[in-house]
Amino acid sequence: MNSSNRVTQIKKSAIHEMTRLSKQYDDVAFLSWAKPTTGTPKHINDAAIAAIENGLTGGYSQSEGLPELREEIVKKLKRDNNITATVSQLLITVGAIEGLAASVMATIDPGDEVILPTPTYSTHIAHVRLASGTPVLIPLVEEDNYTLDRKAIEQAITSKTKAILFCSPNNPTGTVFPERDLRALAEIALNNDLMIITDEAYEYFIFDDEKHFSIASIPEMKKHVISNYTFTKTYAMTGWRIGYLHADEEIITQVKKVHIPFSICAPVVSQYAAIAALEGSQQCVREFRLHYLNMRNLMCDRLDHLDTIFSYSKPGGSYLMFPKILGERGKDSVEFSKNLLKDIQVSTTPGSAFGPTGEQHIRLSFCVPEEMINKAFDRMDNYFRK
Ligand SMILES: Cc1ncc(COP(=O)(O)O)c(C=O)c1O
Repeated sequence: MNSSNRVTQIKKSAIHEMTRLSKQYDDVAFLSWAKPTTGTPKHINDAAIAAIENGLTGGYSQSEGLPELREEIVKKLKRDNNITATVSQLLITVGAIEGLAASVMATIDPGDEVILPTPTYSTHIAHVRLASGTPVLIPLVEEDNYTLDRKAIEQAITSKTKAILFCSPNNPTGTVFPERDLRALAEIALNNDLMIITDEAYEYFIFDDEKHFSIASIPEMKKHVISNYTFTKTYAMTGWRIGYLHADEEIITQVKKVHIPFSICAPVVSQYAAIAALEGSQQCVREFRLHYLNMRNLMCDRLDHLDTIFSYSKPGGSYLMFPKILGERGKDSVEFSKNLLKDIQVSTTPGSAFGPTGEQHIRLSFCVPEEMINKAFDRMDNYFRK
């Protein structure tokens, strides 16, 4: 096939590769998937079924999404993100992923540079490459719990820099970037006329004293930020493919020019499900959060017993963590992950999938039942004791 340079430069996803390899074994203990294993709450499923039965889902919606859904999102943004939005500042997308892809495509010209604090979600890097932009990877400060390196970010800015793209809470480290640091990032963007593209997929899974902060709540950032959100994580709706983005109307007009040729509109049945998710009780979100908090604590306890093998920073959010593999073993994280799978059927994601600073690490997901974590760690305890 005569493929484009745009696609041939993109590497296979290590996450999907581990999933493929895992299929060769029975009884795998999965710590490699970043998707909720709890099912979608029943009231959300029921609303989707009712929408189908009432004949509401057979056509397209407006490309920007159902007005009723956008009205619910306006309330949510005010209540939980301190963002004053209008329905015309919202675009309903096919998950956060399509929103992010459209945000990048609408912002980046070939050769433009995009700053990404790393390790980060590898799909963000792919988005920049697909837009023929240049990802500029700036390491987070691992010794300081993976904080943003403001100085290094400022020093990386050139005449070609167009945007900064990050997720908070961060995939894979689980770091929640504090308001102070995000305000500093906003200032850098304003001083250098840059766009900030946020991925706030894990906004509700925040632990201890951490707080989620949305840069779009800073009024001066109005023309400088595109914020991406999703129902995938908050309501365990991975397969529904439904998310949204918020930006100033002028930006929305441009982003829509990408959204339409790629998707026309987000799945309509999922838009009805999303309305139910926002209108209904938020108890399910509180329960998911509590489960993830308990699982984080369990995973940290179990890691403490493997302290000659791993060191780690306790994640303040998400349902992911990023332990460092100590010593020689950590030299090649792909090899390390493959060996864990082959020898004891524990599936993890090699850290190198999240940028060069991810090498020597593995990503572990704790959005799984307690038994899965215990099974994986019982096996690792035995394996590393030998
Ligand atoms: C940081 C981050 N953003 C976006 C996504 C995908 O979200 P969606 O399913 O809404 O496209 C993921 C999924 O793992 C993620 O970890």
